[in-house]
Amino acid sequence: MPDLQDSPFLRACRQEPVPHTPVWFMRQAGRSLPEYRELRGTGSILDAIHTPDLATEITLQPVRRHGVDAAVLFSDIVVPIQAVGFGVDVVPGTGPVVEEPFAGAGDLERLRPLEPEQDIPYVLETVRNLVDVLEVPLLGFAGAPFTVASYLIEGRPSRTYAKTKAMMLGEPALWHDLIDRLADLALGFVRAQVEAGASAIQLFDSWAGALTPEQYEAHVLPASRKVFDGLADLGVPRVHFGVGTGELLGLFADAGADVVGVDWRVPIDAGWERIGLDKGIQGNLDPAACLAPWPAVEHEVRGVLNRIAGRPGHIFNLGHGVLPETDPTVLTRIVELVHERTAA
Ligand code: CP3
Repeated sequence: MPDLQDSPFLRACRQEPVPHTPVWFMRQAGRSLPEYRELRGTGSILDAIHTPDLATEITLQPVRRHGVDAAVLFSDIVVPIQAVGFGVDVVPGTGPVVEEPFAGAGDLERLRPLEPEQDIPYVLETVRNLVDVLEVPLLGFAGAPFTVASYLIEGRPSRTYAKTKAMMLGEPALWHDLIDRLADLALGFVRAQVEAGASAIQLFDSWAGALTPEQYEAHVLPASRKVFDGLADLGVPRVHFGVGTGELLGLFADAGADVVGVDWRVPIDAGWERIGLDKGIQGNLDPAACLAPWPAVEHEVRGVLNRIAGRPGHIFNLGHGVLPETDPTVLTRIVELVHERTAA
């Protein structure tokens, strides 16, 4: 097995020089790949996640096809809450849907602590299968407390987060208890993935960009910090990502990750200044740009690399997940282009 500590991905997370800039794509496993659609068939994505052989193969598909520098575990942010019995499903075309949304203190007991060996043996088996065969690092992940709370309270994806914010601002003690339990669940979930062999983790606070900096700092940051602090002893790189976080990047960096992901709205060099040059950065090609003709894609990729200007600590990624209608051959060409353009 290769020494993964020397891999471009883990070196970049530590801001060390690399033979080429590492690349992976959020949602690289999934509907942009015909081989994924064929294997998945119909049924809930949660069933596929519960089947280690299937989840292993789906995780490997984009690694083989694109030659990316990291694998990302095929799982979902709702897995730990489903595992402790908080009724939730992932509806195709919609996203997470909760049968009985979180509405008050009486619902807190529905979020008991995670016991990984009993509650998510299938995730641990998938991770162990993967690290046996992978030649690149495996990235584990969890949903951040705020983003998961938004699904539990709204019951489904939301544009306004109105109920979530009403609880956060109007019932701060209840909100604190909720988000603290979600921090413990996220921490238990990612710690178990690292202990089973994952080399790094990413916390997805996809929807934190809906908050003002004051709201984020007072009501959300402490819970995300609890997750990052709780991982410190494991010594693996911690990545922190959200969408629309331009105004929050300084606070995101304060929460304790080693690498911060930025979406495409922020010029990546300006984002890095906000995060602090002592941390790594991940991003930030516009996922929609991948649907344009190749010369336009190439122009956008070069634009990101030019802004980075060779500074160590960059992991190339999209600014959010791969869109399902993306031609996967474009993703492979992006990997080749980034590797070529950044070769030491
Ligand atoms: O990145 C990867 O390749 C790893 C796999 C991954 C999935 N979900 C698999 C998945 C990751 C990292 C996630 C995280 C996730 N899940 C997030 C955070 C990342 C982000 O997008 O901001 C969120 C918000 C979710 C919740 C979720 N799960 C949504 C909104 C959806 C889309 C619903 C739809 O069908 O449009 C899902 C379903 C989902 N999770 C799919 C995949 C591959 C697609 C559905 C399927 O294949 O059945």
